[in-house]
Formats: sequence, C-alpha cells, structure tokens
Amino acid sequence: MSTLLEVRGLNTVYRTTEGQIRAVDGVDLSVGRGEILGVVGESGSGKTTLATSLMRLIKPPGRILKGGEMLLDGEDLFRLPRSEMPARRGRDLALIPQSAMHALNPVIPVDKQVAEAITTHGEASRKAALRTARERLVEVGIPPERHSAYPHELSGGMRQRCVIAMAIVNEPKLVIADEPVSGLDVVVQARILRLISDLKESRSLSMMLVSHDLPTVTRVCDRIAVMYAGRIVETGEARTVFEKPLHPYTRALVEAVPRVRGPKQDLQSIPGDPPDLHHLPPGCNFEPRCPAAFADCKTVDPSLEEVEPGRKVACLLYHDDERE
Ligand SMILES: Nc1ncnc2c1ncn2[C@@H]1O[C@H](COP(=O)(O)OP(=O)(O)OP(=O)(O)O)[C@@H](O)[C@H]1O
Ligand SMILES: [Mg+2]
Repeated sequence: MSTLLEVRGLNTVYRTTEGQIRAVDGVDLSVGRGEILGVVGESGSGKTTLATSLMRLIKPPGRILKGGEMLLDGEDLFRLPRSEMPARRGRDLALIPQSAMHALNPVIPVDKQVAEAITTHGEASRKAALRTARERLVEVGIPPERHSAYPHELSGGMRQRCVIAMAIVNEPKLVIADEPVSGLDVVVQARILRLISDLKESRSLSMMLVSHDLPTVTRVCDRIAVMYAGRIVETGEARTVFEKPLHPYTRALVEAVPRVRGPKQDLQSIPGDPPDLHHLPPGCNFEPRCPAAFADCKTVDPSLEEVEPGRKVACLLYHDDERE
C-alpha cells in the first residue's frame, strides 16, 4: 500500500496560566492510501489537538512548533502559506470535528448545508452543488424524502450521516474524523461504523479515525496508534494491537472494556489519574500508573521503537538497549 500521509516530528503546544504544555509531543505517523488509521487514547491525550494540527486549525493559545512535516501525497502542507489552507480544507483533507452532529446549522436544511460545502470552493453552480449533495446524502443512507429536513428533525445517527456526507462531498484525499460515533447508542454506533467501512470499500477512503474507545474502532481500522500524554506509545495492525497489546497502557485500555461473554467481572477503569501535562514525570509518562513499572522507568523516557515488523512500542519492557 502506498503512503498518502506522512507526519514527522509534530509538536503542538498550548500556553496556559501555569506555563506551556505540549499536547502533541513529537508525533510521527503515516496513513496509507485506502487505509483507516485509528488514533486512540483517554480524554486529554491529545487526539483533537493532533487532528486540528493536521488541518492547521490550531488557534492561540495553541501553536504548532516549527520543524514538523506533514506530507500529503508528497507535498508538505505545513510549508504552504496559511492563506492557501482554506482552499485545501475539504478538498485535500476534510475534518469531521468532535461533536460535529451537534454543530449543524439549525436553520438550514441538510441538503443545502452539504451543498454549501461544495459552493464554498466556488466552482459549481448552486443547482449542480445541490444535486451532488443529494447524491452524497443517498450514498450515506439518507433517503430523498429527508433531504430538506432541518437538523433537529433528524435522529443523531442521521445527523452524523449528513456530517459524513459533508466530509466526502469534495472527494478529499484524507478524511480526519474526531470521535464520529461518540454520543450515539451502540446500535447506531455500529451502523455508522458499517457506513465508514462501506465507504472505505466503495471509495477507497483514506481516514484517520480518532476515538477513546479501542474495541469500537478496532472493528473498522487497519492500524491503530495509541496516544498517551501527547505521544504515540504503540502502533500496529489493529487486530493484533487489540488482541495482543504490548504497552501496559494499551493493555489497560483493552481491560477497561466490559466483556459480554465469559464470567461476570467488575468494569476495570485505568488505575491512577490521567497525566498532568504541566508536571510530567522525568522517566516514562505512564510510569506512575503502570503495573509493570520497574526502577529504570522512573528515569528513562522510552522512545517509540519497532519491536516486530509493523509494530512499535515506547516501553522499556521491550527495549533492552534503553535500560540503564
Ligand atoms: N485551547 C486550549 N488551551 C489550553 N489547553 C488546551 C486547549 N485545548 C486542549 N488543551 C489541553 O491539551 C491536552 C490535549 O487535549 P485534547 O482536546 O487534544 O485531548 P483529546 O484526546 O481530544 O481529549 P477528549 O477525548 O476529551 O476529546 C489536554 O491537556 C487539554 O487540556
Ligand atoms: Mg478530543
């Protein structure tokens, strides 16, 4: 599979009253053509900051540090003049923002809103744009009789389908979806994930899918990147990461999942508190919460290293050469 997106050395910081925090800390990642990469982590791990950084939509007090690269089809979008980005958004790469289905304009029918995503780019006539918008709405499962509905007349699942139609309407190379199924009940979540899988097949969709829910995204993703405190701590093929997690944090994410089969168990939450980005520990960021930590973890900050082909982990348990 050829590489569509290649991100290297991405750092995004926020200035706060207590000082600067690094919400995205030296992230490298790639998405292949026709591939879905899942980005998974707890609340505050930096997923939205990563997604927004890739769109170059970070606003003060946030800032992307110089030196990172974001190659889309070989072109470094971080080097483009800022003024060129609006023309690229929606076309080169489209974002489905977190809670997008609640952010649809309440006073405009959904077909017109999807059409607006086309006319913003200025080339299509209103009539042609509306026709394309309706075709996309049918493609995502909204029947024609609902096209002129206002958002409040549609269910949450239907609204999320509209948001997905809006994201694909300009045929972007990459779709970045930030928590596209959170806030929906499990049956609707499954339907939306099925739609995403179907679009991947029918359109060779390339996507970065952000979620706090590892098992849910495992179903549709090809690969997973697990984030903790702004860093990627494990990446690999989705099913392998879920079935054989290596990093103790990934293991905790898997164990936090309620089991439907087998003996009844109490729901495990991940022990300890999420990290305070203002006061990160000197060694591994996960060390204070890690059940497998040993002495070196307090002083050595592990890098993300390949431990098997296609599998990277930032944990001293797997890095003999980094132990002191
Ligand atoms: N505008 C901001 N100003 C200051 N700090 C921010 C801002 N936005 C995010 N942060 C901080 O950056 C870190 C990463 O936040 P981010 O929203 O990217 O996480 P997330 O993984 O998307 O979380 P969630 O699952 O809750 O959506 C957090 O510590 C958060 O408090
Ligand atoms: Mg978020």
